[in-house]
Amino acid sequence: PANAYLRAPGSPAAVIAHRGASSAAPENTLVAQEIARRAGADWIENDVQPSADGTPFILHDSTVDRTTNGTGSIRSLTSAQLKALDAGSWFAPHYAGTRIPTLAEQLADLRTRGGNLLLEIKGAHTRDQVAKIVAVIREQQMTGRVFVQSFDVPSLQYSYELAPELPIGLLRSTLDADPVALAGQLHLTAYNPAGSALLTRPALVGDLHRAGVAVMAWTIDSAAQWRSLDQLGVDGIITNRPAELAGWISAG
Ligand code: G3P
Ligand code: CA
Repeated sequence: PANAYLRAPGSPAAVIAHRGASSAAPENTLVAQEIARRAGADWIENDVQPSADGTPFILHDSTVDRTTNGTGSIRSLTSAQLKALDAGSWFAPHYAGTRIPTLAEQLADLRTRGGNLLLEIKGAHTRDQVAKIVAVIREQQMTGRVFVQSFDVPSLQYSYELAPELPIGLLRSTLDADPVALAGQLHLTAYNPAGSALLTRPALVGDLHRAGVAVMAWTIDSAAQWRSLDQLGVDGIITNRPAELAGWISAG
């Protein structure tokens, strides 16, 4: 079947808001998601990890230390403990009281208000932990609006086995010798490299596209690199500055 995530001829790259509008609001929160949505982001990118009691929560780091008023590994804290934390004050006093969202809350918000989710399964997950993520996506009836990505190959394979209807993308910091072959082996819908790495091999986007594989590059905040990646034909650009990228794209 055709890959619906490939950029149509003449259409621009998708704007993907990295951790929401993370330069304007506390990352990976509902307020960051809402600001990104209003700024014209096509997708919100964020990171999912399980609490101690197995609930998928939205957090980037393996600990809550940097982005909340608490301490400790997310995987050692219960849902109740995570929900008691302030995930906004570290960014600015104005955001005091902002909470770490669960995946279910985040998807419910997107379902109601509009928007798509590029969901990074962060770190290693067991099959049961990925099954819980899939269950939440299905409960929230968001299957057609979620794209799963990960650096962790087993997590992607669990997702594909449990929910082949969910598209999967492989995150890479450096390029593989043969990304096209790897994409075939892993049933990838997208190959998502660091933008700086991708720019060292300009022919790769065309090679992947001819194989029916989409490309989303991360995390790019400068207009010079937006231009270079756009010229390569990437399908999506992941950025901390979604309002500026949306403006740059609409200015043509
Ligand atoms: O979406 C790709 C990018 O988010 C990967 O890096 O550390 O920001 O999750 P990181
Ligand atoms: Ca991420």
